[in-house]
Amino acid sequence: MFTRRWVMTAAAASVMAAGAASGAMAMDLPDLEGRTITVVTENAYPPLQFLDPSTGEQIGWEYDAMEEIGKRLNATIEYQNISWDAMIQAVSDGQYDVGMTGITIREDRMEKVDFSDKYMTSQMFMLVRGDEERFADAPSFAAFEDGLVGAQPGTTPFYVAVYDMLDGDEANPRIKLFETFGASVQALRTGDVDVVLTDGTAGEGYVKASDGALKLVGEPLGTEDFGFIFPKGSDLVEPINAAIASMEADGTLDALNTKWFLEYSLGQTNAIASASVIVTSDEKPLANPMTALPPEPSQDAPDDDFPWWLLALAVIGVGLAILIATNDLYTQVFRTVSRGVQITVFVTLVGFAMASILGLLLALMALSNSLVLRQIARFYVEVIRGIPIIVLLFYIAFVGAPALVWLINGVTWPLQQLGWIEPLLVRDISLLWRAILALMIGYSAFIAEVFRAGILAVDKGQIEAAEALGLSPFQRFRFVVFPQAIRTILPPLGNDFVAMVKDSSLVSVLGVADITQPIRSSPTST
Ligand SMILES: *[C@@H]1O[C@H](CO)[C@@H](O)[C@H](O)[C@H]1NC(C)=O
Ligand SMILES: *[C@@H]1O[C@H](CO)[C@@H](O)[C@H](O)[C@H]1NC(C)=O
Repeated sequence: MFTRRWVMTAAAASVMAAGAASGAMAMDLPDLEGRTITVVTENAYPPLQFLDPSTGEQIGWEYDAMEEIGKRLNATIEYQNISWDAMIQAVSDGQYDVGMTGITIREDRMEKVDFSDKYMTSQMFMLVRGDEERFADAPSFAAFEDGLVGAQPGTTPFYVAVYDMLDGDEANPRIKLFETFGASVQALRTGDVDVVLTDGTAGEGYVKASDGALKLVGEPLGTEDFGFIFPKGSDLVEPINAAIASMEADGTLDALNTKWFLEYSLGQTNAIASASVIVTSDEKPLANPMTALPPEPSQDAPDDDFPWWLLALAVIGVGLAILIATNDLYTQVFRTVSRGVQITVFVTLVGFAMASILGLLLALMALSNSLVLRQIARFYVEVIRGIPIIVLLFYIAFVGAPALVWLINGVTWPLQQLGWIEPLLVRDISLLWRAILALMIGYSAFIAEVFRAGILAVDKGQIEAAEALGLSPFQRFRFVVFPQAIRTILPPLGNDFVAMVKDSSLVSVLGVADITQPIRSSPTST
């Protein structure tokens, strides 16, 4: 069986009587006399250890616990980082005193390293909507073939979903992937998925905060114990075990669970749920405000260099192609990534085409003679331009789509009553299309400004001349204005396109497997 990281509970042998308190025990702890302990970690597994997204500081459950251990043992802790793949070997070789990264205590690992006692037990619970009655535990969920589970690739809940709930196929289409835990809970609430796995402390917190909209069902799944690792025969095992025992006895471990599994992850979801939080806390909006037109390329700039860069690119491309064709590993990576590339290309092309059409319409509205149309276009452009694209994504996906479905169901209600059509479900609108819609709406505002500026740049005299020739408004636009405007429009439009290719990777937050996702989800286990 393998291992898991991330979210887990310290249902860890629940506290003894609160009275068996710290004072007495702390006094019995060994005194390491200021010794320096070098701890190696990964900074890859929230909430155990990770870099604070806003400050870049190293934080998490394990940092707090290790600091406390240092205090209790009179030791100074120093941190290093290394990837998981290299960690056990490096600790085994004595490069570091302690390794911590939610490591499952396993017999086979004990040949290389010593383990501390467990400081945490990982258990997953099934979080479902409050009115869920179609299944009540893992087996009945497995049997309920329409049931979907939301998870983050490569995390504990993901593996528990694959191996303890479903059939062991990591590509099972019943698993919907999300970038953050908060997004998967949001998808659960809107009905895009039917269950999300969570550790017990966080799960109870979500249930309490949901006012009946969510509940936990079934038995705990995938139980595993975590411990610190040490070089074989380390003299630190005993003192650190004593410190862990004292922290468990006086409730320190429980307090850490509440802090990191409940308060921290609830904070994360709230940030997603309320866009205003993101807008105000995000000084650099993710969308690329490309309102200003770049200066026109000056006519006499010497740009007739031979394009060596293009030649270099072609040579590198051919080299890579040969490498992919001849090397097994590269072939494999290429296969994994190419599906993602297809999705990225599809999202970008379709999204950009739709955004361009909408943008052109908006630009024409903004330039029309009707005050109402002009103001509507202005309103749209100004509002949409100010919203970071990621917020739009979340709103379209989890607020807009359910509203649309509700509206369509309202309109088609009589037909449903007659039994002619089935009611539409939120999940019938795929996340891919919701992502495309969000990109379309977000970029149409920028593109509208590009078009408007391009059209305004056409010399008034040209239009007057066209009028004098008796061309109709459509003919004027089609034969005189547009061909000239397009020359001004194309360069900034190209910029928008490039920006959209980059932003299209944001769709992975909705679980659409674009180019970036297969790379991040290639699992390693701790
Ligand atoms: C911690 O160790 C230092 C160095 O040996 C010693 O001076 C100090 O008294 C110790 N502190 C406690 C609280 O035992
Ligand atoms: C690794 O540690 C160094 C300092 O020791 C730090 O600057 C760096 O940000 C760390 N990297 C990660 C990914 O934690």
